[in-house]
Amino acid sequence: MRLLVCGGAGFIGSTFTRQRLREFADEVTVLDKLTYAGREENFHDFAEDPRFRFVRGGIEDPAAVASAIAAGAPEAIVNFAAETHVDRSIAEPDAFVSTHALGTYVLLEAAREHGLRYLQVSTDEVYGSIEKGTFAEESPLRPSSPYSATKTGADLLVQSYFHTYGLPAVICRGSNNYGPYQYPEKLIPLMILNALHGDPLPVYGDGMQVRNWIHSTDFARAIGHVLAHGAPGEVYNAGGPDEEANMVVVRRIIELTGASESQIDHVSDRPGHDRRYSLSSEKVRALGWSPQVRFEEGLAETVAWYRDNAWWWEPIRSGDYRGYYERQYGRSLG
Ligand code: NAD
Ligand code: TYD
Repeated sequence: MRLLVCGGAGFIGSTFTRQRLREFADEVTVLDKLTYAGREENFHDFAEDPRFRFVRGGIEDPAAVASAIAAGAPEAIVNFAAETHVDRSIAEPDAFVSTHALGTYVLLEAAREHGLRYLQVSTDEVYGSIEKGTFAEESPLRPSSPYSATKTGADLLVQSYFHTYGLPAVICRGSNNYGPYQYPEKLIPLMILNALHGDPLPVYGDGMQVRNWIHSTDFARAIGHVLAHGAPGEVYNAGGPDEEANMVVVRRIIELTGASESQIDHVSDRPGHDRRYSLSSEKVRALGWSPQVRFEEGLAETVAWYRDNAWWWEPIRSGDYRGYYERQYGRSLG
């Protein structure tokens, strides 16, 4: 297939692009604004592939979207483009509203105009927190942060384009992803890099919040599956095989890096912090997908990747990320 992958310079979008180029005969055009989270370094092993091209621009800019469509003549749009960090959405929600609401709208209009299939990449956070049990696709939407609320708004807009205009659109909602190329503001890469550098490990509140972890290659494969086999207008959840409390994840990272338990630092809790996420993925499993990577094995591989790929994270850790870290955590990185 010829795909327009929006947000393909980020963590999961670049993982998906790599997978499509390696394992399928697809042609991929990436449209990405290159915010702090988007990096051309993420193309390092496929930048020269003749089936790949890159257009820099924002999804909220109709001219940028039109030029990416003209460049790649896609049959489908896969939209990963988003502001993705809950803590940043609490501090500065503006870009979350414009990228998720306006950006998704511009892409949907382009899909309608050009007769393209559309896949919206979404998150389990749209369902909010669940103490017991799991969320299914028909569970109520109760987002709690500006991040998840604006992602929910985007999902509803996508569904309205199916109901109103018959746009062949699908939504795939993933649980917490981890793996190589994840920006170190997120729990797992933040803890790995701080552990390797002897920095404190900032655990929010009691650290007993639970997340359902999915390896980014498994989520990328679920998205491919939904694109190929999903029914228009439907939502598909894709959760990982394992749920863990944050403290368990942090302790495991300490063991894998040889860091010290004394680095654990319980800091103030995140406002409105969701206690637990849990997803039922029966519907996408019925399409023939299942996650391949168990958390224990995937986490060990991820720690090894960060240890071996300082070229990737050193420019981040010595750049703007330092200022973000100081504002967020009230202390400097070592
Ligand atoms: P990321 O922050 O690593 O990457 C986001 C990418 O989008 C970056 O390349 C950035 O430059 C680009 N971008 C941001 N605003 C843009 C705009 N206006 N126009 C064009 N490009 C723009 O994020 P990620 O973790 O790879 O997440 C990708 C998608 O998956 C998001 O839609 C996110 O909501 C969803 N998701 C993420 C997770 C997770 O755990 N990371 C879980 C479930 C769903
Ligand atoms: P995060 O990676 O931000 O993903 P999300 O909030 O989208 O699930 O956080 C995962 C969990 O880790 C969440 O419960 C918040 C917690 N957390 C910390 O305890 N300390 C941190 O420094 C960060 C970034 C997250």
